[in-house]
Amino acid sequence: MNLKESIESVRNNFRTDSDPFPTDSKSIELLYVKYLGRKGLVSDLFSQLINVSNKERPSIGKNLNQLKKEITNSFKIVDRSSSNIDSIEEDYTLPGLSFPTGYIHPLQQTMNEIKTIFMNVGFSIAYGPEIDDDFHNFGALNFPPEHPARDMQDTFFIDPDTVLRTHTSNVQIHLMENEEPPLRYIVPGRVYRNEAISFKSYCLFHQVEGIYVDKNVSFADHKGILEFFVKRMFGEQTKMRFRPSFFPFTEPSAEVDIWSEKSGQWLEILGSGMVDPEVFKSVNIDPDIWQGFAFGMGIERICMLKYEIDDIRLLYQGDMRFLEQF
Ligand code: DAH
Repeated sequence: MNLKESIESVRNNFRTDSDPFPTDSKSIELLYVKYLGRKGLVSDLFSQLINVSNKERPSIGKNLNQLKKEITNSFKIVDRSSSNIDSIEEDYTLPGLSFPTGYIHPLQQTMNEIKTIFMNVGFSIAYGPEIDDDFHNFGALNFPPEHPARDMQDTFFIDPDTVLRTHTSNVQIHLMENEEPPLRYIVPGRVYRNEAISFKSYCLFHQVEGIYVDKNVSFADHKGILEFFVKRMFGEQTKMRFRPSFFPFTEPSAEVDIWSEKSGQWLEILGSGMVDPEVFKSVNIDPDIWQGFAFGMGIERICMLKYEIDDIRLLYQGDMRFLEQF
């Protein structure tokens, strides 16, 4: 038998000997010594290499190295945890295996940040129903019966009196019905709107609502809290402005914009205002004693501004290539 044939025969023998691969450490060790030990079959083949002609040596040498690698690898595949053959060929200087880890979704990260900022100044967290009646989603918030926001185009109706909430403002009403003022809450949650899906709108999104009710609350308190929030969320240097606006449930109402150096324009980030006395009346709170302010912001919008994401749908597709970046 020439060396080439001997290599093939050792290869075949190993296949037979290692199928099935032994499971107890003693047999694994015997198998290892037989083939890869100092006086094993592979080392024996190597010692015969000097008898091969110069011409043949490179190709046979290569084949032999390959055989050694195959046999060595089949020992590596075996789970070492159940055996004590650790002494064999373990290179402790190799980098460890890395395991895939999960990521907190960018929307959840944004939500967590907002929650933390408000909790630091004394707000508690509250939640409310996503399926609600007309009274909590619209009526008590001073939307007149024919208000366009009630339109079928925007609102998912379950029946004429039941909707998927279109905003988290419904929870303002639940909180004021259930608790005596003073109140200081933020309300994170999902909201639903029957809008055409595009890069900037989706049929569901998230909001954080804020409601603050106490005696002697002024517009200055309202402004102070939101200024604090904007600086924490977007950085101390962020320029912001209050722009007069309208919501049925606040009077006066304002929208808050922040200045984007990059795009050279004001970007709207939230709606807010002083709680309208009509809203207090609908939940039997006396507006001559209590005042308050409220605000609501879209989490997707804030998240997209903060991380420069240009398509809202990315937040809903579960694509790892996107999510891994956060
Ligand atoms: N509910 C409003 C919306 O979905 C946002 C909002 C504006 C909430 C003003 C408020 C507020 O609490 O005072 O567009």
